Amino acid sequence: MINFISSQKVFNLSLKDSSYMFKVDDFGNLEHLYWGKKINGLNPNNTYPYLNRGYSSNHHQGSRNDTIEHKPLEIATYGNGDFRESSLILQMADGTYINDLKYESHRIYSDNSPNQGLPTSRNKEMSLEVTLKDAYEEVYVHLYYHTYEGLDSLSRHLEIDNRSGQELRVEKALSMSLDLPNQSYDALTLSGMWAQERNIDRFPLSRGTHSINSHRGASSHYTTPFLGVLDKSTNYHQGQVHSLNFVYSGSFEYHCEVDSIESLRIQMGIQSLNSNLSIKPNHKLMTPEVILTYSDKGINGMLQAHHNFVNDHILPATPLFKKPPILINNWEATYFDFDQDKLLEIAKSAKEVGVELFVLDDGWFGNRNDDTTSLGDWFLNKEKLPQGLKMLSDQIHNLDMKFGLWIEPEMISMKSQLYQEHPEYLLREGKRTPTPSRDQYVLDFSSSEVVRAIYEMLVKVFDELDLDYVKWDMNRPIVQSYSMITKAPIANFDYMKGFYSLIAMLQERYPKILFEACAGGGGRFDWGVLNYFPQVWTSDNTDAIERLKIQEGSVLIFPQKTMGAHVSDIPNHQTGRETPLDLRFAVAAPFNLGYELDLSKQDARSLEKVKDHNQWYKTYREETQNGRFTILESNDPKNQKAWMIESLDGKLITLYVYQVLASANAPLWRLRLNGLNINARYKIDDQIYSGSELVHFGLLIPVDMNKDFASKIITITLEEEV
Ligand code: GLA
Repeated sequence: MINFISSQKVFNLSLKDSSYMFKVDDFGNLEHLYWGKKINGLNPNNTYPYLNRGYSSNHHQGSRNDTIEHKPLEIATYGNGDFRESSLILQMADGTYINDLKYESHRIYSDNSPNQGLPTSRNKEMSLEVTLKDAYEEVYVHLYYHTYEGLDSLSRHLEIDNRSGQELRVEKALSMSLDLPNQSYDALTLSGMWAQERNIDRFPLSRGTHSINSHRGASSHYTTPFLGVLDKSTNYHQGQVHSLNFVYSGSFEYHCEVDSIESLRIQMGIQSLNSNLSIKPNHKLMTPEVILTYSDKGINGMLQAHHNFVNDHILPATPLFKKPPILINNWEATYFDFDQDKLLEIAKSAKEVGVELFVLDDGWFGNRNDDTTSLGDWFLNKEKLPQGLKMLSDQIHNLDMKFGLWIEPEMISMKSQLYQEHPEYLLREGKRTPTPSRDQYVLDFSSSEVVRAIYEMLVKVFDELDLDYVKWDMNRPIVQSYSMITKAPIANFDYMKGFYSLIAMLQERYPKILFEACAGGGGRFDWGVLNYFPQVWTSDNTDAIERLKIQEGSVLIFPQKTMGAHVSDIPNHQTGRETPLDLRFAVAAPFNLGYELDLSKQDARSLEKVKDHNQWYKTYREETQNGRFTILESNDPKNQKAWMIESLDGKLITLYVYQVLASANAPLWRLRLNGLNINARYKIDDQIYSGSELVHFGLLIPVDMNKDFASKIITITLEEEV
């Protein structure tokens, strides 16, 4: 619900259990008032006062009581005395940067039109557009706010409309900015690197600016466009959390600035450094959405609010995806060394143990026998598969399995037919040596000609096969963003629009294909990607122990069914570690299950186990993949982990418990199942427990868990609600 209280010029966004409020102040600025637990109103005497804080800029002669740099604001422009981090910096044609945006008008409406060419949240409830105008130039900025029924999330973004008659250079155009009141906060971020994605970092924010960005051309392994702001006392189960998530997959930045009066400014948007954006006269620029979420139920409350939002407002409605199919991927089984017989052998053994989808990974095209050649040549490698892909896909379908294919459409190898024919398609600064990464280069996706050429090639392959699934990879960062076609630098924002346009075209033509995203594992895993790709390969690191950490970080912002988790071989290819099959399954089981090993080489006992595992997964798949995920706290969080999924109807709970290393004479492990209904009774094996007992006293984890690499999946059913 959004309403405007005209007597106070206050905008009130009333969400499920929270409120978001701002107003137009006496000078036409948008002043942020409140974002938190629901309130029924705000007395004007209880908002930031007019106060002369000395040695600061004022609005006009005689307005000393209004110091711009201390006021909580909804948008932060440059050059008028707000010395904190700016969110919008436009360079006018005369070279100045002074942006003086004042309230002009607003409208409250309902709108579900797509955000042209960018990922966008679906099923909005109500929308608010506030129009600001520069005091001197015909430059308009529209701030957009959207609400969603029954949720404590709202979205923000903006559009710049240049009617000044001159080109506008965009130095910075973040999608949102706001100032939270003075208090001590902690930041929660997710950072990492290849094979080490999304480590959870929590740290206190103190005076100054903490900024996180990616200028790698993608959201990246290193950083994630997510920020949590926590009260000091917030833990996994209680306390306030404010979070930001960017619905975008390219270079981004966000800032947390604690100012001189200890209030906290938070901002998020597309990367400013070298953004290379300008707006021609009579043109507009729309920025991607940031989703703001509030919870007073701790980190798990935030996680569950994120999952609800992604499930209902971000993910595409792909029919295949209702029950994510168990897949087998041949990458770690064969790498580039395969032929048709080998692939069929793996597929057949997988079919026998209940796997549903066979994915042919890298190496099926051009002359691709290692990773130095052929990207861009999207036609069959006849040497490897002389009978053709069609024959292979038919044989897989005859096994009653689905068939999927790997592609990496944004890339080009120098050793490729495409490069011979179109060297100008490669992004590079003409006179400089192009910068390789994995011996490959990036295509100029800011050019619709290049996107079209790749589309035509892919269509030829896809049309011939009855494809059920495609894995779309992206295996290097983007540098030298210069187009040899236009002989000019390109904006990463335009590259991203090219990327989104290709996936949109393919999805329109092939609505039944399930697209999975990948970027050297989880190097482009964000809410923008999830708007098109309902599942993502979480990490190239398939070691079960390392995955405990990677998946726990990832699940803070991504629902379990979006996160690819595969059982792989031992010794593990990334760490050399040997862990039991039961543990490898138990770590993958809460997520989107797959296999990444040659099942035809496993012994009969292991195959029996895999069959049982898959049977278990299928029995509970709908409940666990769509259920409510909770991270449970243990006394020794690095060594002992536990996750719980409660089905949406509350009738089934699956509990996943892991121990990394045993210790002699270990303390007992009593696990509190926070989140269960304290007024219910539950059954585990043939024993009955009260909900209050499981929540407050906890469940004693059997002592046989005190082993290295131990795991248990405990199934709990609701006996009765009392
Ligand atoms: C990336 C992916 C892997 C695999 C290889 C193929 O690293 O993350 O899963 O597809 O590329 O080259």
